[in-house]
Amino acid sequence: MGEFDFIDRSNSNAEKHTLKQKLFGTQEVLPMWVADMDIATPACVLDAVRQRLDHPIIGYEIMPERAYRAQCDWVNRHHGWTMQREWLSYSPSVVASIGCAIRAFSDEGDEVIVQSPVYPPFYEMVRSNGRKLILNPLIQDEEGRYNFDLDDLQRKITPKTKLLLLCSPHNPVGCVWLREELLALGELCLKNGIVVISDEVHCDIVFPENTHVPLASISQAIRENTVTLIGPGKTFNMAGFSISTVAISSQKLRERYQEELQKVHYGDGAVLSHVAFEAAYTHGDTWHAGLINHLTANLELIDTWCKAHPIVRFTKPQGTYLAWLDCRALKMGDRELRDFFVKEAGLGLSAGLSFGKEGSGFMRLNFAVATEILHTALEQLSHALKRNGYG
Ligand SMILES: Cc1ncc(COP(=O)(O)O)c(C=O)c1O
Repeated sequence: MGEFDFIDRSNSNAEKHTLKQKLFGTQEVLPMWVADMDIATPACVLDAVRQRLDHPIIGYEIMPERAYRAQCDWVNRHHGWTMQREWLSYSPSVVASIGCAIRAFSDEGDEVIVQSPVYPPFYEMVRSNGRKLILNPLIQDEEGRYNFDLDDLQRKITPKTKLLLLCSPHNPVGCVWLREELLALGELCLKNGIVVISDEVHCDIVFPENTHVPLASISQAIRENTVTLIGPGKTFNMAGFSISTVAISSQKLRERYQEELQKVHYGDGAVLSHVAFEAAYTHGDTWHAGLINHLTANLELIDTWCKAHPIVRFTKPQGTYLAWLDCRALKMGDRELRDFFVKEAGLGLSAGLSFGKEGSGFMRLNFAVATEILHTALEQLSHALKRNGYG
């Protein structure tokens, strides 16, 4: 067990279990797909919520100033960026914020750039809001690390290109973008009048020797052109509290965003979420350090396994608890690959293709589980490969 409580969620309403039948056609898979963890939410968060329940009224409450300040302090402590309280507004969901920002900063028919492969709602938000999706695929170098393709981006920009959706750190490929990469991207967008929506919800899941650089921390000009989305959902395994924030330093952009917010009437959210948010950002440092140790150990396990099974190519992610397994050498079609994982290995992973066509031949494995579970999963995969003549 180590210092964390790993929870068997099979008898709960956890999405990873409840959607097994729908997604994999069977209950008999070890689910390692949706991006939450099997690790108990920090005790400091649960205790704060319990304490709040001693008060018998759960009425309307505004997001406390203390909560916003706790997040600013956390970002300063962990990422060296002085985010100001005045820039922040509450959001019930990072994806909802993407939708709001798309509507605030572009018109129907305008173009929005997405760097594929990427978290599927990026595509859905562009399309469902009637904007035109422009793909600027990431390119993989010889070591398997992904990079921005700025030449391709430059070629695709037209007067109708208004926004770029950045995923930083990147789900699913696990890149923690370097300062110089972000600088070049940020400057190109600035030069072309393209506002960047920077989804940084994975910013706290970064492995030793890597540093998350908030896009808005790079320069004042880039900051004024950036909408940053952050929240405690991934960091503290508390997605179920549905709480995050949007940071916009430019007054002009903030006012446009606020106009859009009025239309959706998110208000300030739920009181128990405020309490959880504040407690996590105030008291969560030690727990978070332990989490990174645990995830680093799991990552090593996957890396060692992949070295012993080179048919599955693997480049260690610098951040996120998602392993992007390159299974192209198995030479299976995407349906066949998915069936192989489900039926032969008994594993419920996210199919690479669901992140865009560049994800074809890949599978995404969520390794935020107990080490024994990861061990079991890798064993199951070893046996499946062997049985099917892959060594
Ligand atoms: C990049 C990214 N953005 C947003 C989300 C979801 O955020 P929310 O639940 O706040 O909408 C996820 C969840 O996996 C994600 O990976």
